Amino acid sequence: MLEAQSIRKVYQQGASPLEVLKGIDLTVQKGEALSIVGSSGAGKSTLLHILGTLDTPTSGHVIYEGKKVFDLNDHELARFRNNNIGFVFQFHHLMNEFSAYDNLILPGRLAGWSGKDLRVRADELFAFMGLSDRKKHFPSELSGGEQQRVAIARAVFLNPSLVLADEPTGNLDSENSLKIQQLLFDLQKEWNVTLVVVTHDLGFAEKFPRQLKMANGLWA
Ligand SMILES: Nc1ncnc2c1ncn2[C@@H]1O[C@H](COP(=O)(O)OP(=O)(O)OP(=O)(O)O)[C@@H](O)[C@H]1O
Ligand SMILES: [Mg+2]
Repeated sequence: MLEAQSIRKVYQQGASPLEVLKGIDLTVQKGEALSIVGSSGAGKSTLLHILGTLDTPTSGHVIYEGKKVFDLNDHELARFRNNNIGFVFQFHHLMNEFSAYDNLILPGRLAGWSGKDLRVRADELFAFMGLSDRKKHFPSELSGGEQQRVAIARAVFLNPSLVLADEPTGNLDSENSLKIQQLLFDLQKEWNVTLVVVTHDLGFAEKFPRQLKMANGLWA
């Protein structure tokens, strides 16, 4: 479903170019779950952002179900991203002035869903995440693990076929980390979501059927 071809990313740092990705190839099948590990600075987040079309490569292609995504114009690309890709970041990026409910429904609101559809989907996801009694809480009134569950629920609100997660358990204690891990695998199995996770937690990485390692902008 997802293919990356010869992805290079070069940052211009003053006079000297910094090559962060040096020609990465990747093919991900629909419904697959894979983990990516590698030392700090290896280029993992940069690659994930490019795969998720949040950033553009210096050269190379990202092909999603046969289409080169960077051929789309900005508007088409934003729409494509909202409908097909869910992101989970290490820091959850919930909006502090919005309740858990209002944070959760944001992708649906952007997609123009009716109030009733938003409520039905939100109820389903809050139940799935075990957060039905926390809808009205603001992020500051939720634990770190609860915040991360809301962020994951938001990422999958529109039933994306691909979920990209960058250290989704990075800020959690081991108990909450295990819960989030299980939740991601449940999503993958129950909704046939394709799951790509970057993590420094080797125990988590090893639970994936496919494991990749990055070093210095290349597969190691
Ligand atoms: N906007 C930028 N301009 C210049 N260099 C950058 C920029 N963004 C990232 N880099 C550099 O690119 C390299 C790869 O960064 P990246 O965030 O992809 O690493 P990472 O593998 O995710 O590391 P970590 O495990 O610490 O999150 C780093 O050396 C970083 O300093
Ligand atoms: Mg990173």
